[in-house]
Amino acid sequence: MAKTVLITGCSTGFGKLAAQKFSGEGWNVIATLRSPEKAPDLGELPNTLVAKLDVTDPGSIKGAVGEGLGKFGSIDCLINNAGYGGRAFFEQASVASIDAMYGTNVFGVMNLMREVLPHMRKQKSGSVINVTSMAGMIGVPGNSVYSSTKWALEGLTEALYLEYKSLGIRMHTVAPGAYVTTSFGDNTDDFLDTGDDQIREASKKMRENFERIINQGDPQDPSEVSDLMFKLATEGGPVHNPVGADAQMLSGLINGAADREEFVRAAEQMLTPQE
Ligand SMILES: NC(=O)c1ccc[n+]([C@@H]2O[C@H](COP(=O)([O-])OP(=O)(O)OC[C@H]3O[C@@H](n4cnc5c(N)ncnc54)[C@H](OP(=O)(O)O)[C@@H]3O)[C@@H](O)[C@H]2O)c1
Repeated sequence: MAKTVLITGCSTGFGKLAAQKFSGEGWNVIATLRSPEKAPDLGELPNTLVAKLDVTDPGSIKGAVGEGLGKFGSIDCLINNAGYGGRAFFEQASVASIDAMYGTNVFGVMNLMREVLPHMRKQKSGSVINVTSMAGMIGVPGNSVYSSTKWALEGLTEALYLEYKSLGIRMHTVAPGAYVTTSFGDNTDDFLDTGDDQIREASKKMRENFERIINQGDPQDPSEVSDLMFKLATEGGPVHNPVGADAQMLSGLINGAADREEFVRAAEQMLTPQE
């Protein structure tokens, strides 16, 4: 019998690519998104149910999970992909924007798992893939709040791997490096123009340095991320999964350093503007 995946944030980017990949490989797909009118082509994919789901709205999660189970009978893999970034020095980000980012990137993931895990427990099998980021492996200056949401997911997923293993459920993170997805830029909360002169100036310098590093090299192919999701769902693999040449290089630097402090000193040279 075909297996079923539920994916959040399928309007664009990795979520849409994942829906296409799993459907193409013969899986049933519950492709969820906040605004189904944004991606009418999803409904044309074979074995795909398009369902409206906002990860911050428990009612919509219950509705989409119920619809998916009603149609396909099981959920074998949950991909928590929905999320967004934000550029700011910490003091530039408003309290409301921080709450909102945690609401989506962290509590949204918990909301989905709370709804889906009981079904996986009943069937004694399943896997959860939480999309984190290279920013969940290193504290990224000028992106501290986003970085902290992805670190939270890395820790949460590692703990859940240990909690749920004996119940037959696998847990993974996928930590992409920098990919030009269709609309990652549009889903970014920017606060670079707020705050006093000192903060704005420091923030601008930090950002310019960061963009210079990020824009080095050729663009990476975002289907690397959806291919890895599929591999983890079908074959399993490690808990933490950096993806992309940049994320893998970073992982190598972290693992190659004598300790975290040595790594932080190397990161300081690279990520902070040198006078
Ligand atoms: N691209 C990169 O370089 C990169 C690197 C590391 C990690 N990531 C992570 O990868 C994931 C996917 O990002 P992407 O690059 O594919 O960007 P994207 O194209 O902007 O996709 C983000 C998706 O999240 C959805 N979303 C945002 N808030 C939501 C909510 N409250 N409920 C449901 N869906 C919501 C968006 O829906 P709407 O269309 O409705 O806004 C969109 O479908 C994110 O978690 C991001 O942090 C991306």
